[in-house]
Amino acid sequence: MTFANWLAHFQRNPALHRELESQIEWDAPVLLSEREVKAFARSFQRFELGESGDGRRLLAKAAQEGDATYLAALELLVHEEQKHSELFRRGLERINAPTLDAHWSDAAFTVLRRILGLRTELGLFLIAETVAMGYFTALAEHAPDPVLRGIGRRIATDEQDHIRFQIDRLRQGFHYTPGAVRLVVGLIWGVIAAGAATVMALDHGQALRACGLSPAKFWLQATGRFQGAAKLIFAAPKAESLGPLTTNA
Ligand SMILES: [Fe+2]
Ligand SMILES: [Fe+2]
Repeated sequence: MTFANWLAHFQRNPALHRELESQIEWDAPVLLSEREVKAFARSFQRFELGESGDGRRLLAKAAQEGDATYLAALELLVHEEQKHSELFRRGLERINAPTLDAHWSDAAFTVLRRILGLRTELGLFLIAETVAMGYFTALAEHAPDPVLRGIGRRIATDEQDHIRFQIDRLRQGFHYTPGAVRLVVGLIWGVIAAGAATVMALDHGQALRACGLSPAKFWLQATGRFQGAAKLIFAAPKAESLGPLTTNA
């Protein structure tokens, strides 16, 4: 399996980014209530921080695998995450809220990822992305502000392909792993995903509600989306590459 199609996708994606960002009315008046401003400030501060990492350790682990095409694609994905952080920063500027220096859930995730191998680190990456996807979609569709909806749409468009990219690489990673081991790994990851969904539902509850999504419903969707991805990896590690969804590839 080759990651050439993914590398081409990530190389072409900035054109779509520009198009989606040009559709956002950045100067539209802010009509949010004080409560909503508070909710999105708290939520965006966490995402701004969470997506700002330089991915140095992850990329160093990936480099050891010796697939230059995959590594180049992963580098561009990390760059897309940094642009997400920038978009959340713009959202914070819009509602006059400061950025954060550190948050415990982010620090915990970073410590955990540091001690793991590439496969497990990618698994945690996939968990974070599948769990957050429902939030980005809710933001894109139902945020009570046009700029926040635009930011959500811009990020959700990237993330749906990030999830497919991680699945493609993880399938390769579990290609030769016996079925029983895959089952155990899938169960453990499922428990971590449920925990991550709980932390997110609590941490971003007010913002989710402001987008018309109850934290409980978000939790069910988040764990369901992870289970769907896990099934694609662990039940069919030898299946064809999913490839990018956005049509610009
Ligand atoms: Fe992201
Ligand atoms: Fe992502």
